[in-house]
Amino acid sequence: MRLARYDRDEFVGHRFDWQRGEHLYASEPTQQGKSFLLNQLVQRVLSDYEPGDLRFCSMMPKPRDPATSEWMPRIGLKETHRWPPPKTVFGQKPAGHVLWPRHLVNATPKDNRAHVGGVLRTAMKDLYWGGNSLTFIDDAHIAAVLCGLNPEIEEHLTAGGGMGASLWLANQKPSGSVATGSLTTFAYSAPTHLLLGHDPDERNLKRLSEIGGVNPDLIADIVRNLPVHRIMTQGGPKNVSEKLYIHKLGYMCVVGL
Ligand SMILES: Nc1ncnc2c1ncn2[C@@H]1O[C@H](COP(=O)(O)OP(=O)(O)OP(=O)(O)O)[C@@H](O)[C@H]1O
Ligand SMILES: [Mg+2]
Repeated sequence: MRLARYDRDEFVGHRFDWQRGEHLYASEPTQQGKSFLLNQLVQRVLSDYEPGDLRFCSMMPKPRDPATSEWMPRIGLKETHRWPPPKTVFGQKPAGHVLWPRHLVNATPKDNRAHVGGVLRTAMKDLYWGGNSLTFIDDAHIAAVLCGLNPEIEEHLTAGGGMGASLWLANQKPSGSVATGSLTTFAYSAPTHLLLGHDPDERNLKRLSEIGGVNPDLIADIVRNLPVHRIMTQGGPKNVSEKLYIHKLGYMCVVGL
């Protein structure tokens, strides 16, 4: 089968057609360019709205995250430690928010995660029930498994569409962890949009059968063979992958760098 291939600018600027309420899932091993591409897509989507017209929230469960810090000003997002965020009184409204809970440095890891999870949960509930929202969770394993948000994520994925509450998730390892568990399988089956990077791990490829409506063997074969490019970044050389984009209506293409 011949797959269409688009350059990054073409895909982000003209081919990616997202509608309010549609979910997205991106998966590939670490440092292959998920956050980069998803932030480009967030920027593009938000540029179609007046600031604040679509409620955007990026949930950040980690204490630090270079990709989020780098993209926040570029997209015009404002950091908040609590939800709902403080109202903008002076100046221009932000395009959306990054919810970055304060961590409890002196607490046990378990108590700290429960605290962070609680702050994120409050926001997820509001974004879900209020609708007209796009929630982005860039490290879905941490949020879902370690912070205990799998039930909220499942609710969003299964019932959020009709309420105009979209969820975008990125994950390094769909097969999860033996020790702690994995992200809900609705993460692959519910989204309209999927982005997969090069991945040779058979356990991860097996999970692709959960996507539904696509031939898992074909998808696994493409994902195993996606080209990876070694590029120089400020953080040293990185092996960035081209992506397979799948639209659930039965459309696929490869996205370049
Ligand atoms: N298309 C691209 N052009 C230029 N640089 C890129 C591109 N894609 C990724 N990078 C750079 O490669 C590095 C890794 O990318 P990114 O942080 O998006 O990976 P990731 O898959 O989200 O990793 P992790 O799973 O660890 O969060 C970053 O420094 C990023 O700026
Ligand atoms: Mg990332």
